[in-house]
Amino acid sequence: MGVWSNIKSDIDAVMENDPAARSRFDAVFTYAGLHAIWAHRIAHFFFRHRWCTVARIISQASRFFTGIEIHPGARIGRKLFIDHGMGVVIGETCEIGDDVVIYQGVTLGGTGKEKGKRHPTIGNRVVIASGAKVLGSFKVGDNANIGANSVVLREVPPNSTVVGIPGRIVKRNGKRVADRLDHANLPDPVVDTFRQMQKEINELKAEVEQLRQEREAVRTGGGGFRETAAGDDVRIADPVGCAPYDK
Ligand SMILES: CC(C)(COP(=O)(O)OP(=O)(O)OC[C@H]1O[C@@H](n2cnc3c(N)ncnc32)[C@H](O)[C@@H]1OP(=O)(O)O)[C@@H](O)C(=O)NCCC(=O)NCCS
Repeated sequence: MGVWSNIKSDIDAVMENDPAARSRFDAVFTYAGLHAIWAHRIAHFFFRHRWCTVARIISQASRFFTGIEIHPGARIGRKLFIDHGMGVVIGETCEIGDDVVIYQGVTLGGTGKEKGKRHPTIGNRVVIASGAKVLGSFKVGDNANIGANSVVLREVPPNSTVVGIPGRIVKRNGKRVADRLDHANLPDPVVDTFRQMQKEINELKAEVEQLRQEREAVRTGGGGFRETAAGDDVRIADPVGCAPYDK
């Protein structure tokens, strides 16, 4: 694909994805994301021809003007749209497919534990919302959505939506995933243990009280009746050998 058709499709991506884009003229002159992508294409050209320092200088100059840092080694497909862009970081071994949308504050980075390929591979038509961090050398499948401020540390299957920290799949093929975690009502094992202990203490107290009453009855009358939980009267045996009396 030629340079001009690449430039045209980059501008198309802005017009298709941003309802606020008034005209192509606006897009060309005022969209930092577009400028960063074009600077990256030049930097990547030098990087591929082993002019690494020149490539880094272009990339850093672009970062200075746009607030978007794309390592010259990153491979970017057609029609990437970086909206707003400030704070976006894209690592060296990252690969991005076609028609991807990235919002401000997104990091496509490494965990710091891997060598070689250490950044994610993003499929086609993926949306990565503002502030999301995708860390590690795994794949994010086609048509995936990553929610704002999520931290994604594992492979994301195609057609799924991932949110939260760490990122969890909440939707797959348009359907909600049933066993999603209810963040507002997390299970608390400590509270559960205390509840169980309180229940046992109450039962023991009731039993002690019952024994106390029985002993009192025996002490004062040599036997008697007590009421059971079901409301029946039962005869209490006389521990000192006196015959129990009838009610
Ligand atoms: C993730 C996104 C792309 C939508 O994907 P989607 O597949 O349509 O998912 P939904 O909107 O149906 O959300 C699925 C569930 O995840 C929840 N969710 C979405 N984003 C979330 C987030 N960042 N954190 C926690 N939960 C989130 C939704 O509330 C919904 O939960 P529910 O099923 O209990 O109602 C969209 O929410 C988004 O973040 N778009 C980009 C926004 C952005 O960055 N804007 C910046 C403009 S400047």
